[in-house]
Amino acid sequence: MLSNQEPATGKRKSLHGHWSSRMAFILAVMGSAVGLGNIWKFPYIAGQNGGGAFVLVYLLCVVLIGMPVMMSEILIGRRGRRNPIATMTLLGAEEGSSRHWKFVGTMGVVAGILILSYYSVIAGWTVAYILKSASGVFVNATGETVSAEFGRFVGSWQLVVLAHTAFMALTIFVVARGVERGLEQAVRFMVPALLLLLFVLLIYSITSGSFGAGLAFMFTPDFGALTRDSVLAALGQAFFTLSIGMGAIMAYGAYLPEETSITASSGAVVIGDTSIAILAGLVIFPLVFANGLDPADGPGLVFQTLPLAFGQMSGGVFFSTIFFVLLSFAAWTSGIGLMEPAVAYLVERFHRSRAEAAVIVGGSIWLLGLATALSFNVLADFKFYKGTIFDNIDHLTSNILLPLGGLFIVIFAGWVMCRNSTAEELGGHGPLYRVWRLLARFVAPVGILFVFLKAVGLLPEFAA
Ligand code: TRP
Repeated sequence: MLSNQEPATGKRKSLHGHWSSRMAFILAVMGSAVGLGNIWKFPYIAGQNGGGAFVLVYLLCVVLIGMPVMMSEILIGRRGRRNPIATMTLLGAEEGSSRHWKFVGTMGVVAGILILSYYSVIAGWTVAYILKSASGVFVNATGETVSAEFGRFVGSWQLVVLAHTAFMALTIFVVARGVERGLEQAVRFMVPALLLLLFVLLIYSITSGSFGAGLAFMFTPDFGALTRDSVLAALGQAFFTLSIGMGAIMAYGAYLPEETSITASSGAVVIGDTSIAILAGLVIFPLVFANGLDPADGPGLVFQTLPLAFGQMSGGVFFSTIFFVLLSFAAWTSGIGLMEPAVAYLVERFHRSRAEAAVIVGGSIWLLGLATALSFNVLADFKFYKGTIFDNIDHLTSNILLPLGGLFIVIFAGWVMCRNSTAEELGGHGPLYRVWRLLARFVAPVGILFVFLKAVGLLPEFAA
């Protein structure tokens, strides 16, 4: 692709060294992208928004908006070579605009903290499901028993808080010790293993689930089911699952060697991440329809369908345990990425030690997370605006803060940065560069604004 990219000269160096190879960078970004977003969130959001049409809009958002935002984030990160707040301040001034662009970085730090506060709660469920799987409670389970088991679990605030605490402690531990590098190895193993298990599940779904019904649900677009909120949810999901819009990928880009192709790396991550989400949908929906479950059931969907499949297959206890171990790992590598911007900021700005910063940030996130943990039990009836506390934090972050961050990032890369700066990072003025620039300057900003305006009702409804 862009292999004839010229090595740029006289550039800044990151203080923290560089990724050892292009593969190391792709693995790190994959580790942050592949997580609960693909396997837990995508199926349940698609289910709540009627399937086909939502999936189509989500795919369009990934390609037309997600891809240029990701490339912009990486190129900004590599050019600035600092934490996102410092990078936006520096480049804003360097490109002859304003230092105030740092607010994009600040917004990202806040978004990361809020996302992790609920991410940790759901990741806690995953950890708890390792133990449940191993205990064999799902052997020969029916739709009713798995639902009852899930209901009993999330209904207990003590268990949910305990699991959230365990996950947050693990995340703080890794971030405090700064041993993310070991995670490169973990991701190298985890992503293929997760894929493999998804394929095992897919075979089960094809043979024992209502595969035709699942396929039809996911790929037959019914635009009547597409409300204004569904379009916004599809955009939000594209941002969430790709980890973009909050500077996390910008922070990773800061360590990217000059000669690595940003376009090729982004392409690999986008394709990998999207395939895993689609695969998860192909596994889950046939099981939903075969077992009389409701696709619009919400955040418990994966926890009620997959144990059912594992409970029926031979070796299910083993596969199920491994699956939830892998999913916990995937959530863990994402959790670390979510915490990193805030920790890096505390370290650099307030000269805290890494361990101190991790404990301060992680402790605050744990505290905030209690609100989400309780929103599934004690506070389940406390609803406002979009629903429970969890629903509101999720809506605010995925559907508003991330797309807004992405909007400013593409405007910055497409309009504020000069052509030569971006072309230098993206390997020259070739056809791929022109496609990126068209998407970053026009398609992505207009697309995001369009979805926002639609969601607040300033544009007409789709014809039903
Ligand atoms: N992409 C992650 C997932 O799908 C969640 C996520 C969103 C994330 N933003 C992030 C992870 C930033 C790391 C960094 O589960």
